[in-house]
Amino acid sequence: MTMSKTLNTEQLFKNSDFFLKKYFTDSSGSAQENGSERWSSAKITFIANLEKSFTETDYKLLCELITQHDKLYHQQDKPILTDFDYDRLYQLLLHVEKLNPTWIIPSSPSKKVGGQVLTHFEKASHRKPMLSLANSYNGQDLLAFDERVRKFLNLETEITYFCEPKFDGLSMELVYENGLLTKAITRGDGLIGELVTENIKTIKSIPHKLKIKNPPALLEVRGEVLIHKKDFLDLNLSQENLGLQTFANPRNAAAGTVRQLDTAVTADRPLKFYAYALGDYQGVEFKTQSDIYSLFKSFSLPTKEDLTQICHSATEVVEYYNSFMEKRHSLEFDTDGIVVKVFSLKLQEELGFLARSPRWATAAKFPPEQGKTQILEIVCQVGRTGAITPVAIMKPVKIAGVTISNATLHNQEEIDRKDVRVGDTIIIQRAGDVIPEIVEVVLSARQADSIPYKIPDFCPSCHHSLSFSEEEVAVRCTNSHCPGKLKESLKHFASRRAMNIEKLGDRWIDIFVDKGLVKHFSDFYKLRREDLLQLERQGEKSADNMIASIEKSKKTTLARFIFSLGIRFIGETTAKHIANHFIKIDNFINASEEELRQVPEIGPKVTSAIFEWFLNKENLNEIKSLIACGVSFEEVTRNTEGPLKGKSFLITGTLPLSRDDAKNIIEKNGGKILSSVSSKLNYLVVGDDPGSKLEKAQNLKVTIINWNEVEKML
Ligand code: IVH
Repeated sequence: MTMSKTLNTEQLFKNSDFFLKKYFTDSSGSAQENGSERWSSAKITFIANLEKSFTETDYKLLCELITQHDKLYHQQDKPILTDFDYDRLYQLLLHVEKLNPTWIIPSSPSKKVGGQVLTHFEKASHRKPMLSLANSYNGQDLLAFDERVRKFLNLETEITYFCEPKFDGLSMELVYENGLLTKAITRGDGLIGELVTENIKTIKSIPHKLKIKNPPALLEVRGEVLIHKKDFLDLNLSQENLGLQTFANPRNAAAGTVRQLDTAVTADRPLKFYAYALGDYQGVEFKTQSDIYSLFKSFSLPTKEDLTQICHSATEVVEYYNSFMEKRHSLEFDTDGIVVKVFSLKLQEELGFLARSPRWATAAKFPPEQGKTQILEIVCQVGRTGAITPVAIMKPVKIAGVTISNATLHNQEEIDRKDVRVGDTIIIQRAGDVIPEIVEVVLSARQADSIPYKIPDFCPSCHHSLSFSEEEVAVRCTNSHCPGKLKESLKHFASRRAMNIEKLGDRWIDIFVDKGLVKHFSDFYKLRREDLLQLERQGEKSADNMIASIEKSKKTTLARFIFSLGIRFIGETTAKHIANHFIKIDNFINASEEELRQVPEIGPKVTSAIFEWFLNKENLNEIKSLIACGVSFEEVTRNTEGPLKGKSFLITGTLPLSRDDAKNIIEKNGGKILSSVSSKLNYLVVGDDPGSKLEKAQNLKVTIINWNEVEKML
């Protein structure tokens, strides 16, 4: 084996696999029937002659490998090893260091807490390091953990533990100084993280100010940022609708969202936070883990307390582990195990810490519900916006009761990272319990003649050459007459959340396009019964139903209509904002760029997408044709009742709640939000760091108030 500073993914994987195969009785690479079996039969067992065969060069290489795996995990959210194999490599390192203490180098991963910090965000130190947890994998490991704890404490009696879910998200520290949220810091390398305060402040459940009279001088709240499984599926759907890349799993989606440099994008995504531990603190006292949760509750900090349990013995801990494993799929978020903490903080103090983790806690992971199958082919699909998505077609395999036969590979970058090839044997699992996700390729089972997969240079539907851009990973077909794109646009137009043409399934849309019956949205409304009856397998009843459902869809809302047009970046929420702002389709069509910019939550990206769309005269004509065919909209009604009735408001600066929430509260109570300062404005609501609107309002003698005063009006 040779040493090299930075190994490419393949070398990194191969070298890691080498250690795993040589020094463990079983590893992920070994061919077994399925993931679960692989897991349950696996043990961290070193082969007997480790002492003799492991050299100092091997040790240095192992340090390098783990460092690179840490980087992939912590900085890029792209681990290439399963947690299980990573843990084994790490155990091997600890074992070798124990046998050969003179070899230990200062840069050994065992001497560091984790990976390194990204350069995108400002950095901030943690007052107390954010550590990892030692991992256990089954009930027996938990009993061994309890043994170690009791031995260390020299205790014969049972120990009380606090058990809670292990959240599969991103760990985060919230710093409250005198009750105010001043910083949100990612874990980073455990010592230094990234300052993502503004992004974290967009999470609705996180208080910006602790709601108590005498807040502690300092409180560092640690917890996990994540995305619920249902929200993840919705987010992917909306990404797809917007022609943007989908996420492989909720964890990646949460990580990508927290690290968004554009706070507006983060605000639009459904992040959640659950607190579970403390960093540094002053002015509060605790005796037990439960006290910490009670404190979180009294400060309105979100937790999952209902899923925690105090266990009075190791046997109870194992029972909790087993029962939690049973119900994990019914939970709203992804969990990969449980965390067990010694209940008494006094005992925790006595137990203290190892280099990377506390002695008083452990994580017990669940065996992942995975399956093993083979990739038969990789096909490329063209989306509505022309984005090309590669999809792996697999031999059907059953995972947790559901048969899976295809999985998106997202993009070329993802294919290269996992080095997925046609014919490969792969381990697959269901991300967010639904979306099939290829975990890894079983390299030992790869066919000798296999070749890396490259997305073709031409569109799978129209054979037009594809455009590759530097800015995004997606490859696109730019042919405006591509039938593949047309079919997808029509499917979007007719879909449930858009025009909701109930009886018009995807299969029929494909047929209509192939037969040349439908070329534009408005062609749906020109279809006649006779057109449908001449199609194969179309009966009279079904033709009548289809015509009736097309007719029914004509009565819609402006928001649905705008969404159905498929303008880039206009998802359902943005379409609602536009509809509420313009009220009438003509106002939207005739809006100047300046007027578009005044719609709440619309940024320059959306404005220019709308502009570009209207530049194409065919699009404007299409709207006119649809209206001529009878498409009509329900009146957009604004709530005009409530204590703020007849009053107009504008916000400047940072309020104690998010802008969105403030606007919603005002509108729900009958108030109107204006987009600029004018003499018509009744109130300017001012927060911290107000902008130029304040001066303008003062000049126009507009009443200036703060949020407290709005609350008083309510
Ligand atoms: S306590 C000193 N509790 O797991 C340990 N961590 O593998 C402090 N995690 O970095 C952490 N759920 O991001 C704790 N209920 C929970 C957790 C949890 C998930 C994460 C955390 C930590 C990692 C360690």
